[in-house]
Amino acid sequence: MLPEPDSALCRALAEDLAQAGFASEPLRSAWGETADTAIARGLRGPAARALGSRTDPLAVLARLLALGMPQPSEAVTAALPRTRAEGLTRLGLAAIDGTEVTPTAIIRPQSFADDRGSGQWWIASDLDEAALGGALPEDHVLGVGGASLTLAGLQLPTPVRRGLDIGAGCGIQSLRSRRVVGEVVATDVSERALRFTRLNALLNGVPGIETRRGSLFEPVTGEQFDRVVSNPPFVITPRAAGVPSYEYRDGGMQGDDLVAAFVGGVGAHLTAGGVAQLLGNWESRDGRSGLDRARDWVEGSSVALDAWVIERESLDPLSYAELWIRDGGTLPGTPEYASLVDAWLDDFSARGVTEIGFGYLLLRRPSEGAPTLSRYERVPQALDPRTALGSHCADALAAHDRLAGLGDDDLAASTLVVAADVTEARHHLPGVEAPSVIELRQGGRFARTVPADPGLAALVGACDGDLPVGPLIDAIASLLDVEAGELRAELIPAVRELLFTGFLRFGD
Ligand SMILES: C[S@@+](CC[C@H](N)C(=O)[O-])C[C@H]1O[C@@H](n2cnc3c(N)ncnc32)[C@H](O)[C@@H]1O
Repeated sequence: MLPEPDSALCRALAEDLAQAGFASEPLRSAWGETADTAIARGLRGPAARALGSRTDPLAVLARLLALGMPQPSEAVTAALPRTRAEGLTRLGLAAIDGTEVTPTAIIRPQSFADDRGSGQWWIASDLDEAALGGALPEDHVLGVGGASLTLAGLQLPTPVRRGLDIGAGCGIQSLRSRRVVGEVVATDVSERALRFTRLNALLNGVPGIETRRGSLFEPVTGEQFDRVVSNPPFVITPRAAGVPSYEYRDGGMQGDDLVAAFVGGVGAHLTAGGVAQLLGNWESRDGRSGLDRARDWVEGSSVALDAWVIERESLDPLSYAELWIRDGGTLPGTPEYASLVDAWLDDFSARGVTEIGFGYLLLRRPSEGAPTLSRYERVPQALDPRTALGSHCADALAAHDRLAGLGDDDLAASTLVVAADVTEARHHLPGVEAPSVIELRQGGRFARTVPADPGLAALVGACDGDLPVGPLIDAIASLLDVEAGELRAELIPAVRELLFTGFLRFGD
């Protein structure tokens, strides 16, 4: 078990890492882009090869802490003059064996950028597949992966007082929350994970993260929070003999029951106006789509909630099974792989599962009155992983709230501005002057593309914050020679949608 982290030693380690320049960019330039992405796929050889025989502190720490490779103790102590090799062992991050230091955990730099600026954390977690050279143990504490970064980027940037991070793991979501949340309670079923959370909070000098052990909402009975975030263990796993159950990705329940339990229970832990953001999987069963089932969970919650649920991708049962069997380190072509595939397919077929969706859920307890937001959609397009979508989510919620109280006449009296990342694409049949397809496209946010007819395209093009929407529609109606009332009835709902999705914003 990882020992309780010592704060003075964590401070010393942070100073040593900073002095050695142990940061994302220097590491990436030391081993190159290709080797950097190979590490994420579990392959550390190319990075180690690029470091060659370098013995400078950055190279020693890169091998020891980022790649999980043993290093000579003299070189480690030279690279960490305050912590020394002994300090690493007292933190539970390494073991000394004669003249060699063998890492027992990894530390990777993780850069981030949000509305408040950019920065970097060091994140300690268990040795990964690259370092272990094989399958992970079931109590593995995960480092920062793609899903962690997705949720971190989705977190709303609006400051609030109290937050909750369920399934904190290495603590990445808690660290991110603390950028805008006054104090955070981080929970996990794994004490080992909570020690990593505490270690990472100390290493990065971030106070205000309290850790509590327990499942889902058990550790916060009777408490409410302004913000709840969770990258929960949502991976669907058959409950069959011989199928490993990884703590980091599997909450021990049947099918997608854990996500359903989360959605059904979180409302009671939100303050009025409080928001929960989580990732999840949902099964399509016997003709009922996963998104419809997610809607059932929201509507079945004891506390009525606003909901914005986005399905990013969906997989057939076999692809899903193979994805997660490979993730556990079992290789295709082996008998274990084939029998695990069978177990997954049996499990899915027992519930009539035809597809498994993955996506994001944003749930809000209304400040007052009944919920007004109920949006369930598919957003499958590729997104730039560097886009922090939290600001866009906050803007969309604000636009929704404003629109909910705004009648069509008031909206027609509003001036709007087209967002700077919007472009228009016109497609013409060869030789034909009038376009057969017009599309409005976003460069940022959810990179949406929406079809537009000539009236909507003209309106969006004219939204420069000068004239209100109503007079603009009247002018366009007369240009297109159509009835102004009819055009208004057609365009006002489209304008509402474009305000929510961020193509347009209010001009005041
Ligand atoms: C996918 S990891 C997320 C870790 C981290 N928050 C992140 O975003 O990278 C899920 C975490 O949930 C924890 N966990 C598993 N079952 C749980 C449960 N029933 N209640 C709370 N946490 C649980 C696991 O130990 C693991 O740390």
